Amino acid sequence: MIGNTENSWGWLAKLFHWLMFVVIVGAYVAVNVQESFEKGSVEGDWWMMLHKSFGLTVFMLIWLRLGWRIGQRTVPENFSGYGMAKLASIGHALLYLLMIIVPLSALLMSQFAGRPVSWFGIFDVPVWVAENESLAEQLHELHGDFLAPVLFVLIILHILGGLWHHFVDRDDVLKRMLPFWRNREL
Ligand code: HEM
Ligand code: HEM
Repeated sequence: MIGNTENSWGWLAKLFHWLMFVVIVGAYVAVNVQESFEKGSVEGDWWMMLHKSFGLTVFMLIWLRLGWRIGQRTVPENFSGYGMAKLASIGHALLYLLMIIVPLSALLMSQFAGRPVSWFGIFDVPVWVAENESLAEQLHELHGDFLAPVLFVLIILHILGGLWHHFVDRDDVLKRMLPFWRNREL
């Protein structure tokens, strides 16, 4: 089923979720691999291009994902107890917000640094604004030292939450986000 049902996510929501997972992990891996090469080296530049391309992909996908999320009327209830459901929805809202502002802060950094951002060498996001080095530097810190680490921590908590559902609560919350799982009653 493409759409969400009463008790499971539709395949498009699952596709967005797992595609985003792969691309975000790709962005973190690429930027860390890049650091093991010298700045300005061919390899370093290549991994940085990959980092930016994955990040830009997040920024493109998030609007489709949010559009689909908002357009969907039936969103499965999170049936965990002890007020954790509230915490989970705040966590999800923050994840959505960070999937916007983490790449946005970096795109703005590149804008003010006067650097076009390439998407896998296929096209470039051109520079539209006048160069402003100090602003670029502040955005660099905001992106790399604050927003990206916050997203990372949230993702870890989110994964722990999913595992908690599966192994402690022993409910279907984790399973219903998995690609090929279908509720038996459907
Ligand atoms: C969800 C998407 C993204 C994530 C999770 C992410 C994550 C990160 C992290 C963790 C760092 C810090 C690396 C470190 O200092 O150890 C970083 C730095 C950086 N990111 Fe991103 N980023 C994303 C999107 C983007 C985009 C779209 C661009 C393109 C402009 C970009 C460009 C950069 C640049 C230029 C740096 C600085 C690298 C350096 O100082 O060597 N990032 N990013
Ligand atoms: C980049 C990493 C990830 C991000 C940014 C992310 C983001 C999200 C968001 C925003 C939602 C809420 C969906 C909505 O209500 O519209 C969600 C749901 C979910 N995620 Fe993730 N996720 C990530 C990785 C993972 C991983 C690795 C797991 C596996 C443990 C996982 C398990 C789940 C589950 C089970 C749900 C459904 C919760 C429910 O049905 O109430 N996520 N994810």
